[in-house]
Amino acid sequence: MPRSRPVAATKSPSAAKKLKDTLLIKISSEKPEIEKIQLAANVINKGGLVAFPTETVYGLGADALNSKAVEKIFAAKKRPPDNPIIVHVASKEDVYRLAKSVPKGAEKLMSQFWPGPLTLILKRSELVPDITVVGLDTIAIRMPNNEVALALIRESRTPIAAPSANLAGRPSPTTAQHVIDDLAGRIDVVLDAGPTRIGVESTVVDMTTSIPVVLRPGGTPFEKLKNVLGKVDLHPAVIAATKRRVDVARSPGMKHRHYAPKAEMVVVEGKPEKVLERVQGLVASYMAKDKKVGVLATNESQSNYNADVVKSLGSRSDPDTIAKNLFKLLRELDQENVDVIIAEGIAAEGLGLAVMNRVRRAANFNIVKVS
Ligand code: TXA
Ligand code: MG
Repeated sequence: MPRSRPVAATKSPSAAKKLKDTLLIKISSEKPEIEKIQLAANVINKGGLVAFPTETVYGLGADALNSKAVEKIFAAKKRPPDNPIIVHVASKEDVYRLAKSVPKGAEKLMSQFWPGPLTLILKRSELVPDITVVGLDTIAIRMPNNEVALALIRESRTPIAAPSANLAGRPSPTTAQHVIDDLAGRIDVVLDAGPTRIGVESTVVDMTTSIPVVLRPGGTPFEKLKNVLGKVDLHPAVIAATKRRVDVARSPGMKHRHYAPKAEMVVVEGKPEKVLERVQGLVASYMAKDKKVGVLATNESQSNYNADVVKSLGSRSDPDTIAKNLFKLLRELDQENVDVIIAEGIAAEGLGLAVMNRVRRAANFNIVKVS
């Protein structure tokens, strides 16, 4: 198709509907229909924006090598202009085009965990426009483990820059409806392949230092990285219990407010019995002040709370399920218009580390420790 044709003029397939100016297209998660992928790839190639599923959360994609297109991502999300974007690839060859050098450790991680929820920070090549990496000398790259995402990247024949497809500061989207709630009318297309499998974003590892550093815990557990790399550090901000001044050049995303529900939020951490008692106490005192109170509980504790709204994240012994439910439940509590959210902390192991990192940020580090 000629480049001059407006993005919106593309003919819609069946199972598509228009929401404001955004085309919502249902697509098969296992065998994505090629005509739908082609339509979306056309939009990418013309410099448009396509939200698509990955195994972690929905991403908001644009041609990573087209500055004008990437600029539109920042505008649509209202993303702070100093927060760089992850570039998604469908083949390892692309990594060698986008990065200046690929250390041995990165090659090990790629063969072990790709496609999958792991993002590698590498020194960038000249190919990458400044805006994609906000002028840094590094680039974040990942190969998602999702058929729709991989088909879209292949068909577009270009790497796709994609942050999570939410308005900046809001919980990441794990369904197409979440994307629509935040971005309808602001982007061209949403490919809806149902809820995402993992529910928290990829793990981000800086591979540019002699000892790799996890900048953001995510879908690939820290313990697994350690098994493969031997030595790997956790950036102090990952486990911070207070807001800290971060080395902005190193991990630009960490200084911004994230995952924030509209309500005020508190997280209670410690031994489960003590947590239960304290959450009950907090519920009672907020309700006495006529606040509408929501609790993010676990299966084990759920029936013990008398709040206005009680939602269970899953069993304490199953952090994978808790990760999958977290962002959805934060959004549901917002829709219930609660004034306060009280969340139970869980063990920071496996995906629990990513969960607690997100929960503490969502609560703006409003943490109550009990023992
Ligand atoms: O699972 C995911 O990673 C999802 C899906 C869509 O792939 N994407 C995602 O993107 O979570 P976003 O933009 O919401 O988060 C990207 C994180 C930010 O914290 C950003 O600061 C960091 O990666 N990042 C990107 N490029 C970087 C770089 N060159 N150096 C350090 N951090 C970087
Ligand atoms: Mg994000």
